[in-house]
Amino acid sequence: MRFAPRWDVLLLGFLLGTSGAFAADNPTPSTHEAQLAQRPGHAGIASANALATEAGFEVLSKGGNAFDAAIAVASTLSVVEPESSGIGGGFMATMYVASGHRDVFVDARETAPAAINPKDYLNPDGTPNRDTALKGPLSAGIPGEPAGLVWLAKHYGKLPLTVSLAPAIRTARDGFKPDSRLIGSIQEERENIQRWPASAAKFLTNGNAPIAGDIWRDPEQAHTLELLAQYGDSGFYSGETAQKLVDAVRAAGGNWTLKDLSSYRVRERAPITVDYRGYKIITAPPPSSGGVAIAEILNILSGFDMSKLDQVQRTHLVIESMRRAFRDHNDYLGDPDFVKMPLDMLLSPYYADGLRQTILPDKATPSSMLAPSSGQDPGMHTTHFSIIDADGNMVAITSTVNYVLGSTFVAQGTGVLLNDEMDDFALVPNKPNVYGLLGSKANAPEPGKRMLSSMSPSLVIGPDRTAVIGSPGGSTIITQVLEGILAFIDGGDAHQVAAHKRFHHQYMPDVVTVEAGAFDPATSDALTRMGYTLKTRDSWGFMNVVIWDRRTNKLDAASDPRRPDGLGKVQ
Ligand code: GLY
Repeated sequence: MRFAPRWDVLLLGFLLGTSGAFAADNPTPSTHEAQLAQRPGHAGIASANALATEAGFEVLSKGGNAFDAAIAVASTLSVVEPESSGIGGGFMATMYVASGHRDVFVDARETAPAAINPKDYLNPDGTPNRDTALKGPLSAGIPGEPAGLVWLAKHYGKLPLTVSLAPAIRTARDGFKPDSRLIGSIQEERENIQRWPASAAKFLTNGNAPIAGDIWRDPEQAHTLELLAQYGDSGFYSGETAQKLVDAVRAAGGNWTLKDLSSYRVRERAPITVDYRGYKIITAPPPSSGGVAIAEILNILSGFDMSKLDQVQRTHLVIESMRRAFRDHNDYLGDPDFVKMPLDMLLSPYYADGLRQTILPDKATPSSMLAPSSGQDPGMHTTHFSIIDADGNMVAITSTVNYVLGSTFVAQGTGVLLNDEMDDFALVPNKPNVYGLLGSKANAPEPGKRMLSSMSPSLVIGPDRTAVIGSPGGSTIITQVLEGILAFIDGGDAHQVAAHKRFHHQYMPDVVTVEAGAFDPATSDALTRMGYTLKTRDSWGFMNVVIWDRRTNKLDAASDPRRPDGLGKVQ
C-alpha cells in the first residue's frame, strides 16, 4: 500500500535541528554492554497472580531459566487469570538472551482466519456491528500463545514443556480459589457467557459466577495443556485440539479451518531500540504500535532538558508528544508482513525534531489542528509479567485475549477461551474500536494478517540499573509503559515505578485521562488554562516490574499495588 509520509515534518526537523523551545539533553551512548559480564545470581518475577509467580519459581528450581519460567507463568495465567490472557490468545515477548548477548522479540500475535469477511462486522444498515467484533467466534483470531510457548521452549528454554507446563496443568486439574477480579469479570460478562454452553459450563455453576472461597477446576484446559506439553505445536494446531476448535467455532457461526490453525507461525522480529538520556530502551516493533510510539515520544522529549522543568511543563511536553505519536499510530502502522511502513521516518531524530517544533511552549495543540489522522477510550484487560533469572536472562511478556474474558466463547471440549482480537483490526475504516483507536488501511483485516497491538513489553538498560517492564491497558499500554520508563530513569525503585500515578492522551479523543492523585490541584488548573481537557479515569493497567541494580547486584520485583492478587518476588 502507499503512504503519504509527513516529509514536511521531517524537513522542518532537518532544517531546524534540535533547537527546541528548551535546551537539549545530551544523550550518551547506549550502555547495554555495561551489563554483559554481570549476572545477578538470583531471580525476580513479577506477575498479576501469586500462583503464576510461584509457578515461575517452581520451574526455576527444577533447573529452568527465565524462558522456561515465562512458559510456566504464561500458562498458569491462562488458568488463573483467563479474563486477561490465555492459550486462546496471543503474546509478545521482548527478551535478552544472556548467553548470546542477544535482544530478541517473539511475536506470537493472533492472525485473521483466511475466510475473514469484513461484512461480518457490519450491521445490515452499514453501521459497525460491535457484537460480532467483540463476542463469539467471529471476534477471535487464530491463537498464537500455544505456538509462542512451544517456540520459547524449543529455542530458549532448558526444560521440556512437560516440566514447564506442569504447574498450570496441576492448577487446572486440582483447582484454585479464583481472585476477586476473575469473579467480578465473570459476573460482568455473565449474560454473554450464557450464550454458549461450553462457556457457561466452564465459568458458571447453576448459571452463577463462582464466589470467594470456591475451588475452581478446569479439567478440559488441563487436558489441552497436556496435549501441548506432549506433542508441542501439533498438540494444539493439528489433531484432537485443532479439530475440536474448528468444529466448535464453525458450529457457532465462525469460519476457522484446520488450515488456519496448521499454518499459524510465530515470528521473530528485530526489536525497536531507542537511546534516551543514557538509557537504552528495547521494545516491541510492529505489529505492535507500542515501541514505535514510545520511541517517537522519547525522541521528541530528548530535545528538552526535562530535569529543569516543573511538573506542568513536563506534563505538557509529554502529552503533546503522546498526541503526535498516536496520530502516526492511527495512520501508518500494521502487520509488517503485509504493509510497508515508513519506520525510518517515524524513528528518525529529524522527524522528532520537526514534531518538537510544532509544540507550543505554553498551550495545548488541539488535535484537530494537526494534519488529520484517518481516531477513542480504553478498557484494562491483557496482562504483563517480567522476569530476570540468575544468569541475567530477561523476559518481558505482555499477553492478551483482548477485552475482558476475550470473546467469552469457549470451544466445546477444549477449555480454551477464545480471544476477541479481531477488534484490534480497523474492521470498519475510521470507526473506533473498543479502545477508541481509529485505524487506516494499514491495519485493515486480511487473511493471515496480524492485527495491530499496543503491547509494549520493554527492557530498559541504564548505566547502573536495568528494568524489565510492561503493562496491560489497551491503548493506554503505550503511555503507561512510557511513564513507567520515565519513572525508572528518574530513579524509581520497582514499587515506585509500578505505583507511579499515570495520565494518558491518544490524539483522539482530544482529552487527557488522569489517575486520581497524578496531578495536584495547581497542576490540574495550570494544564486546564493551557487548553487541556482533563478527565478522571479509575481503571489503569497492572504493571509488573523487575529491576536489577547492577551496582549492588540486587534484584527488586514489584507487582502493581492497584491489584492485590499480584506478586513480585525475588529469591
Ligand atoms: N488487545 C490489546 C492489544 O493487543 O493492544
